[in-house]
Amino acid sequence: MAEKRNIFLVGPMGAGKSTIGRHLAQQLHMEFFDSDSVIEDRTGADISWVFDVEGEDGFRVREENVINDLTQEQGIVLATGGGSVKSKENRNRLSARGIVVYLETTIEKQLARTQRDKKRPLLQTDTPREVLEALAEERNPLYEEVADYVVRTDDQSAKVVANQIIKML
Ligand code: S3P
Repeated sequence: MAEKRNIFLVGPMGAGKSTIGRHLAQQLHMEFFDSDSVIEDRTGADISWVFDVEGEDGFRVREENVINDLTQEQGIVLATGGGSVKSKENRNRLSARGIVVYLETTIEKQLARTQRDKKRPLLQTDTPREVLEALAEERNPLYEEVADYVVRTDDQSAKVVANQIIKML
């Protein structure tokens, strides 16, 4: 990679975006951001609170603002929230301002990785598998549309996936 272009990770909940993003940033000596964490820093509250008080629509407005701001940085690694690609503006900004890597995984892995997690409001349901399947149907085409590269994350460690991405860039 000749210059440090932004790297934007997209993909569903439990794909490993934050863990892989941290490895990437560390190895490439780039700054790492996670859009959910930035929303939490800005609101002083957690994502569940934002969903409870402002609804998903309110959360999406905050997410769009954060992605607009962060994509204007130079040389960062950004792990985006799984639903960020629903917004056309987000997709346009991600494509225009960096290299977009879609981290693809299976529903089984997503369930395993998010099982003990109480942080994801959309998965606070008795039927998480059905929710994840419905989201995948709606969003997988959007991840594919925006992606420069697609990488599978279900059968290897975060460190190995990060190295694979570095070789591709
Ligand atoms: C969401 C994914 C979450 C978070 C929020 C909504 C989604 O981020 O933004 O709970 O709509 O898929 P992760 O993909 O980092 O879990």
